Amino acid sequence: MRIAVLGATGMVGSRVVTEAAARGHRVLALSRKPETGPESGARPEVSPVAVDAQDEEALREALTDTADAVVVAVRTVPVDEDFLVGTTRRVLDTAARLGIRVLVVGGAGALRSPGTRDLLIADDPAHVPAGLRPVAAAGIAQLRTCETHPHPDWTYLSPPAHLEPGPRTGHYRRGTDTLLTTPDGHSWISTEDLATAILDELESPGPDRHITMVHRDERQPAKP
Ligand SMILES: NC(=O)c1ccc[n+]([C@@H]2O[C@H](COP(=O)([O-])OP(=O)(O)OC[C@H]3O[C@@H](n4cnc5c(N)ncnc54)[C@H](OP(=O)(O)O)[C@@H]3O)[C@@H](O)[C@H]2O)c1
Repeated sequence: MRIAVLGATGMVGSRVVTEAAARGHRVLALSRKPETGPESGARPEVSPVAVDAQDEEALREALTDTADAVVVAVRTVPVDEDFLVGTTRRVLDTAARLGIRVLVVGGAGALRSPGTRDLLIADDPAHVPAGLRPVAAAGIAQLRTCETHPHPDWTYLSPPAHLEPGPRTGHYRRGTDTLLTTPDGHSWISTEDLATAILDELESPGPDRHITMVHRDERQPAKP
């Protein structure tokens, strides 16, 4: 496949680039400041391209005839909901014109709370302290942008509550719109394993629009 990654230099995006390249896909690595220097670990299957996600024309130019799917993995600190929603809409608009698939890496806040389906994680103080609610709310707005967009070919991936660099085990448990936890009650995955889940989803798309995953000990059974 030809896979574009918007936010390719970020914590998530860089792992997606590595996993995609390791599987032999051609990767278009998009960000404002792409890694192109000698220290970037240049790989022949990865093409870094400078694109500002707010520039619709540049985005369209970068994606035309270069991608079968685009992974959106951008964020700003502090959170900027307008940027996140605007970027998601621009990518969906462009993808609709070009006929390409979109996978948005969003937030855990858009998931339902386990055991209380009417409660979103964003509104559950057990998971999201008041100071992080704007981040969680922006993730929900991003999901609503996908849900209301006419382009039919998108998937919104909510990571579990905790996501950080770690080992690539190749194991995870997949779910849909409800937060998953490990048997010992933790909701986490390494960015490396999240990237394997993203590539699995791109290579073999499932029927669900909203998906999530959690770390799985390889001694656990594959199915929940
Ligand atoms: N538990 C959770 O729910 C959880 C945890 C972590 C992350 N996430 C989500 O995962 C996604 C990725 O997060 P991350 O931690 O990987 O982010 P990150 O490390 O901060 O990286 C952000 C990326 O976005 C790019 N970017 C920012 N503004 C841009 C613009 N205007 N145009 C093009 N590229 C731009 C940056 O590159 P340049 O600066 O070079 O442009 C960088 O590559 C986000 O949606 C985040 O909310 C969720």
